[in-house]
Amino acid sequence: MNRKDFINNTCLICIGSSLSMVIPSSCSSSNYFTKTVVKNKELVIARTEFLNTTKGSSVNRKFVLARIDNWRFPICIYKIDDNTFHALLMECTHRSCELSPHGDFLICPCHGSEFDRTGKVQNPPAEENLKTYKIHTDKENIYVQLF
Ligand code: FES
Repeated sequence: MNRKDFINNTCLICIGSSLSMVIPSSCSSSNYFTKTVVKNKELVIARTEFLNTTKGSSVNRKFVLARIDNWRFPICIYKIDDNTFHALLMECTHRSCELSPHGDFLICPCHGSEFDRTGKVQNPPAEENLKTYKIHTDKENIYVQLF
């Protein structure tokens, strides 16, 4: 390989590596974090947080994420239907990496475990289901019992 080919190939590899780092981080930023409101040991989420309204049209979100002060991992709240929600701690039960939501699944970036939107293990190496939280609802809000 001559010098020109070496430089061209090296530049292409660098550009490809840079893009592969940028694309996943930009995709992950599309996950929606709700405002965190904790009252009486419950996380309170307005039902409207599951609507993504832009430019006059609205689309339902499958899930929203919430960060709680001093908690190491966020909570992912999946909406199954208007009266059914699941709240899952985003800590992998294998070795405690933070999970990443992808549609109806949570995937662990460390060793590839997968969990469904109810928190059940779908793929190893994790063997235990995710920690879940009780939920109740009213007309306006979803309440996640944190403690
Ligand atoms: S820490 Fe999640 S699969 Fe290992």
